[in-house]
Amino acid sequence: MRKTKGIILAGGAGTRMYPMTQLYSKQLISVYDKPMIYYPMSTLILSGIKEVLIISNKETIPYYEKLFKDGSHLGMKIEYAVQDAPKGIAEAFIIGEEFIGDDQVCLILGDNIFYGYLNFVRDAINNNNGATVFGYYVKDPKRYGVVEFDDNGKAISIEEKPEKPRSKYAVPGLYVFDSTSPERSRNITPSARGEVEITDLIRSYLIEDDLKVARIGRGIAWLDSGTPESLLDASTFIASIEQRQGLKIGCIEEAAYQMRFIDEEGMKKIIYDLPESYYRDYLKGLLKI
Ligand code: G1P
Repeated sequence: MRKTKGIILAGGAGTRMYPMTQLYSKQLISVYDKPMIYYPMSTLILSGIKEVLIISNKETIPYYEKLFKDGSHLGMKIEYAVQDAPKGIAEAFIIGEEFIGDDQVCLILGDNIFYGYLNFVRDAINNNNGATVFGYYVKDPKRYGVVEFDDNGKAISIEEKPEKPRSKYAVPGLYVFDSTSPERSRNITPSARGEVEITDLIRSYLIEDDLKVARIGRGIAWLDSGTPESLLDASTFIASIEQRQGLKIGCIEEAAYQMRFIDEEGMKKIIYDLPESYYRDYLKGLLKI
């Protein structure tokens, strides 16, 4: 496994989600039975990533610190950084420049939820040269970055929220970039909406023929939770599967245990620190205690 660091961008003004977001950013709102950020965090953990930088606004960082501390109980190293204003996704690489150093980095947006066999992320991490992003077939690509392929399946264009999408393939908020991403992001001129656009960063790799776009199959569920409707959809989806299987999605402690970031002793320590709850019972059940 190649050394890869993770960044979760969990800021934003959250204006679309008002009044839910008056106290903190939307990634702390619950999706069914746990805070939204647990889902992208567990995606990173299940991809083998142990060092994570959480970027959010000044008001919300203390809440994340309370949730994840320094990460050591999960066998991880979790750091925090402030994004003063929502100035674009690619700004995360400028903020995280020192954190990234000479390593490659996997950025996930704090409201993106993936469910299914996550081998596509591990493959991307292991085979990345330059940048790797994903294409996911959706009904309404206009709301997203959109990637267009030629007849040989090679990516030929990428556009942010186009009026007339050139394909049905949206680019999910999960990206793998090499260590040149901070420098490239610094050289991007902010768009009309004043943001350092992630699609411009991706395009810089595309132009140099250093971009891979891996299509994610329909067996994977990709949900975002950026509107009240999509938040409810995501909650309902997670609830259906969890209730049917009796297994949790986005359970960071389980993921860390499964990935052997922590052993049975480490898991027991976590459990004993938790209040009596369904969640605690679930973790106990995993250890059969
Ligand atoms: C952002 C990106 C977009 C991407 C989407 C995925 O959009 O700009 O390219 O497809 O996340 O969730 P936003 O959530 O800022 O509207």
